[in-house]
Amino acid sequence: MSASEHLPVLLHPAVDALAIDSRPDGIFVDATFGRGGHSRLILERLGPGGRLIALDRDPDAIAAARVLSDTRVSAAHARFSALRSTLAGLQADPADGVLFDLGVSSPQLDDPRRGFGFRTDGPLDMRMDPAQGPSAAEWLEGAEEAEIREVISDYGEERFAKQIAKAIVAARRRGPLRRTGELAAVVASAVRTREPGQNPATRTFQALRIHVNQELEELSLALPQALAVLRRSGRLAVISFHSLEDRIVKTFMRAQEKPPVPERLPLRARELPPPKLRIVAPPRRPGPEEIKANPRARSAVLRVAEKLA
Ligand SMILES: C[S@@+](CC[C@H](N)C(=O)[O-])C[C@H]1O[C@@H](n2cnc3c(N)ncnc32)[C@H](O)[C@@H]1O
Repeated sequence: MSASEHLPVLLHPAVDALAIDSRPDGIFVDATFGRGGHSRLILERLGPGGRLIALDRDPDAIAAARVLSDTRVSAAHARFSALRSTLAGLQADPADGVLFDLGVSSPQLDDPRRGFGFRTDGPLDMRMDPAQGPSAAEWLEGAEEAEIREVISDYGEERFAKQIAKAIVAARRRGPLRRTGELAAVVASAVRTREPGQNPATRTFQALRIHVNQELEELSLALPQALAVLRRSGRLAVISFHSLEDRIVKTFMRAQEKPPVPERLPLRARELPPPKLRIVAPPRRPGPEEIKANPRARSAVLRVAEKLA
């Protein structure tokens, strides 16, 4: 695999979950195009009258989508928190299926110029869209120590968050942290016990990436929009890569399947809020073969739901 490729995770289960065979001329949305692994399989199954809408906030990903010479594809450089308006602008709603394959792609992680990785030195950027918002270096330059600690603790689930934040602030007094290599060295100096097989900077880099890209906010804003754009029996499929994301997806799907009963009781059956989604299958994780071939798959979970009304 070359540096510009991405090995898709749970490829067949995720695309199967969209049930394209039952609406081959429908509208399907890949909200996280990346390098189009899932999109290509969707296109293989889509009929001549079908449409694929490919979204990504990363301009490099959208440049890759635009290279697909297929008249059924519309590519949009957009955040998925703008799903509803993006689909409306493309006259692509209601949709028959929406897929999210969350997180970062291999080309993002592997290109040192993007600043996501601690293995190779590069500018400390981490923005999926380099034209939007502050980079990781800019944020670290101005943030309070308590804020840095909170981000590393909450989004990295890092037990040495306090020591790492302190070390970052001490290092910053000597000059701004501008390189991934500098940050990785500062983190390594503050982390006393190492998790087996894991670089000491793994959790801190994950945390900063989630924060810089507002990944959890994006997901929380996107899920209700996905529900709103789906037509009846349309499918929502989400692949997440860590427990923070998965919790948001699980809580959303469960709440739409069994909406909370209002406190005012007693209620007649017809007064109960109607369920909007049906969870189609238990959560699906990659098998040992897939994890062996693609270690990035080890923490992946696919959840699938169908719109009811
Ligand atoms: C795991 S990769 C997707 C890989 C893709 N399924 C494939 O097979 O090539 C995740 C992609 O989602 C994009 N992404 C992440 N958050 C996003 C957001 N809020 N809006 C739009 N795209 C986003 C990233 O830029 C990245 O390209």
